[in-house]
Amino acid sequence: MKKVNIGIIGFGTIGAGVVKALQSKRAFLREKSGVDVAIARICDKDLKTKRPVKVAKVLLTKSIGKVLYDPGIDIVVELIGGVRPAKDIVTEALRQGKCVVTANKALLSEAGYEIFNLANRLGLSVGFEASVGGGIPIIRALKEGFVANRIDLIYGIINGTSNFILSKMAEEGLDFKEALAVALRKGYAEKDPRLDISGGDTAHKLSILALLGFGIAARPKDIYTEGIADIEPSDIQYAVEAGYAIKLLAIAKRAQDLLELRVHPTFIPASHLLSNVAGVYNAIFVKGDLIGENLFYGEGAGASPTSSSVVSDIVSIAKKIQPGCCKADDRVGFKKDVRAVKSMNEIKTRHYIRFSAIDKPGVLAKISGILAKYKISIASVSQKQRKATKVVPIVMMTHEAAERDMAKALREIDALAIIKKKSVRVRVEG
Ligand SMILES: NC(=O)c1ccc[n+]([C@@H]2O[C@H](COP(=O)([O-])OP(=O)(O)OC[C@H]3O[C@@H](n4cnc5c(N)ncnc54)[C@H](OP(=O)(O)O)[C@@H]3O)[C@@H](O)[C@H]2O)c1
Repeated sequence: MKKVNIGIIGFGTIGAGVVKALQSKRAFLREKSGVDVAIARICDKDLKTKRPVKVAKVLLTKSIGKVLYDPGIDIVVELIGGVRPAKDIVTEALRQGKCVVTANKALLSEAGYEIFNLANRLGLSVGFEASVGGGIPIIRALKEGFVANRIDLIYGIINGTSNFILSKMAEEGLDFKEALAVALRKGYAEKDPRLDISGGDTAHKLSILALLGFGIAARPKDIYTEGIADIEPSDIQYAVEAGYAIKLLAIAKRAQDLLELRVHPTFIPASHLLSNVAGVYNAIFVKGDLIGENLFYGEGAGASPTSSSVVSDIVSIAKKIQPGCCKADDRVGFKKDVRAVKSMNEIKTRHYIRFSAIDKPGVLAKISGILAKYKISIASVSQKQRKATKVVPIVMMTHEAAERDMAKALREIDALAIIKKKSVRVRVEG
């Protein structure tokens, strides 16, 4: 039986999950895949902290070089996270003729294009199934299962923390801070949750999906990104009454020869499959010319689901490695089939807007006058809680309007003396 040696760099949550899965399933994987995956080395800068798995001391090292320059190691599994030094580790592993498996979305969103090109040139494989959607096999689907398709649309709920917070707000009427506190208590949010709630983590993953789906190498800074911190329970309540749910959506949408690429809270119709994706679950909706509409759903994070994807990559590469040679050419294909990312200013959507205005006659006329000046037409208006407070929320749905016009109109409206808080708007899809 073919034996393949792996070296793991990063023995944290996912590293320990991968070690546990490989130890407990070694015989199972041997029988199922015909390869024997052996852990040859585990590297971490901290070898003292107790892990939820036992390993022989001789496997442990603090030296990255003992993994990268060990000729007996075929596959380097990078699980430290972040861009540096992960990028140096991955590129050096490839230069040393080793295949790589990584779960690192931050790295791939910054340098995926470069890394995949290097691997393709060297005839080596990079597995990155765990970088988007935890245990959901979306990368393999885009790379292989849907290879014959022209992808037209990808919608993703791909950040469990944000989805959990929005779900709690919808189900229990909690405000953003209360829902975040629950997420922190339950371990569904990092101690520093900024990357998750700002939409940054979602943008990292969208960048990877855009490369595979449309051949577009967009860095996170090229992706318009808005987080969920401004959403209030009243927005969610309004959405529900109007037949929608609010989700933090990653959107990659073909628009003729351009690609809309954006991350923001979004009104999606209650009838859409994604509207029922609740809690920490992830889902990715893909539309292609041959497949039509497809939905992937599952756990998007955590040691078990993520290690399932990492191990799947390891086994897949291990099966292709020839005896006595690390090479396993499994090209990451990304044919550019759109011209560029569409400027956010040019994108048109319908909008939900909540104005916080002083309750006095003429307010509505002033707001609608400015909207009309920018050719934004109003589909519906509602004003609630008239007596509760002097500042009242005025809620509007607009017809389709360009971002540029909407941004100008909102700037002008927010500068009015009758407006007491920055207006909140949520784009509508579907
Ligand atoms: N956690 C999830 O649910 C999840 C899901 C999908 C993908 N991922 C991705 O999986 C990767 C690992 O995430 P994780 O949650 O396992 O992170 P983690 O728990 O922080 O583990 C990372 C480990 O790597 C170690 N490390 C950091 N820099 C190092 C270096 N230069 N040399 C050696 N060891 C180093 C860390 O040590 P210190 O703690 O001492 O810094 C830590 O033990 C990330 O790319 C993440 O985005 C995670």
